Amino acid sequence: MEILGIDIGGSGIKGAIVDTVRGEFISERLRIETPQPSKPAAVAAVVGEISAHFKWEAPIGCTVPAVVKRGVTKTAANIDGAWIGADAEGLLKCKTGNPVILLNDADAAGVAEMKFGAGRDRDGLVAILTLGTGIGSSLFMDGRLIPNTELGHLIIRGKDAEERATDRARQEKGYSWKQWGKRVSEYLEYLESLITPDLFIIGGGVSKRYQKFFPYIKCKTEIVPAQLRNRAGIVGAAVAATELT
Ligand code: BGC
Repeated sequence: MEILGIDIGGSGIKGAIVDTVRGEFISERLRIETPQPSKPAAVAAVVGEISAHFKWEAPIGCTVPAVVKRGVTKTAANIDGAWIGADAEGLLKCKTGNPVILLNDADAAGVAEMKFGAGRDRDGLVAILTLGTGIGSSLFMDGRLIPNTELGHLIIRGKDAEERATDRARQEKGYSWKQWGKRVSEYLEYLESLITPDLFIIGGGVSKRYQKFFPYIKCKTEIVPAQLRNRAGIVGAAVAATELT
């Protein structure tokens, strides 16, 4: 099946047509800068532009860096506060003229990793963490998603884990790989003590440099890098939208 997947991020909004059976892009990937401020109406207009660019008249799967309950965005950690309580799915349907399924960005990335990447054929409890501007989390029990977990906001040493273990924190605070790897380890060890997963999958752009920081990770749980990298959000959103067809 061919579905348009769109990934709304803090700096860019990306879209591509996805073959949901193979998990591959079958069009070019279009990226448009996220409007600033990133208010729902302005972002939805860009999603409408991407849909029009592909002359799309079918379901769309779309991600957002927020908790999504029945189409309504409930949080806004790294996007404009106006998303809280917005009927985001309704807005996107209206701007694109298409049926839309909206889900949390990390949940979408997890869906793609479980189907086509590092989580394929893995049962038990799998925790996928994306380390980027924020920390996204998705949990799968025997392949089934438990959505909207927001485990990136656990408090470590009195601070939101995002202030210590994101790639943004690494860059802004100038941490060495060792300093940052130890912070990521502390976060994962804490999470492990709470949920005892069978596998950690680490995603986000920084995961392609996993050899630099995995040596400092001391948790007991098996840990592997994600495989779909920056395709994960778009592919996972498209797979989620197959429910609408
Ligand atoms: C948000 C999550 C999101 C993650 C990754 C966090 O700040 O609270 O909803 O999945 O960032 O974008």
